[in-house]
Amino acid sequence: MSSSEGAPSARVAETVAAIRARMAPGASAPKVGLVLGSGLGAFADSLESLVKVPYADLPHLPASKVIGHSGKLCFGKAQGVDVVCMQGRIHLYEGHPIASVVHGVRTLARLGVGCVLLTNAAGGLDPTWSAGDLMLVSDHLNLMGTTPLLGPNDDALGPRFPDMSHAYDPQLREELRAVAKGAKIELREGIYAGLLGPSYETPAEVRMLRGLGAHAVGMSTVPEVIALRHMRVKVGALSCITNLAAGIGKGELNHKEVEETARARRDELLTLLGGWVVRAAKVAS
Ligand code: HPA
Repeated sequence: MSSSEGAPSARVAETVAAIRARMAPGASAPKVGLVLGSGLGAFADSLESLVKVPYADLPHLPASKVIGHSGKLCFGKAQGVDVVCMQGRIHLYEGHPIASVVHGVRTLARLGVGCVLLTNAAGGLDPTWSAGDLMLVSDHLNLMGTTPLLGPNDDALGPRFPDMSHAYDPQLREELRAVAKGAKIELREGIYAGLLGPSYETPAEVRMLRGLGAHAVGMSTVPEVIALRHMRVKVGALSCITNLAAGIGKGELNHKEVEETARARRDELLTLLGGWVVRAAKVAS
């Protein structure tokens, strides 16, 4: 069956069945899901009892072609908490149907996680911020021109008109603030504008986004968050501000710079994610 056939919930059930067939009998169920963005895949490699399943071995999960996104589902323990990580995500701009873009997070939800923490790389829209700043996402603007809920509603996943009042779970946000404070890591907080990409924004678009109240701009996360909230899964998201957006920072933007900045903040990101996972497991249960 091709990835565009059948109800999304039926395709997710096939992926979950394929995962369960590969896991050791009696393997503990993951409590927290993570989506690791550009250059942030190192978190998965630090897990104890790590089991990696390439997306290519699973039905309906296309592998990303973007450098820095490796395309594996990683099961393991982070400080005693059972987690499952998407090491690499696919983006809408790669040309996949939006149902494929969110298939991974729907699979995490059906594996039974109580919450999903997403990370991404983003351009900063506030001129007082710097490349390398870390931002807790408080809300988003969906400027992608589409939604994973387009078309007939799959009632097995969630309601036709899901509520988005608390898309980024207030308790999970509080927990990350506490982790950052304890680790003395400065944490920005703001609104993430999701655009289709893959071209970076023009300076005029950046001015528009600032006028709309956004603090960061990126090309991911929003479809996944909508799909997860549809399924009533709690969500938290953390952006690495890898550059100041076009017209604010000096010079041209490129993906290499995005990757390098994310890598330079790797230790802080690992600290934040590690602490967040432990606290999120309590929020999720
Ligand atoms: N714009 C959009 N997406 C991004 C950026 C940006 O400046 N930086 C990293 N991802």
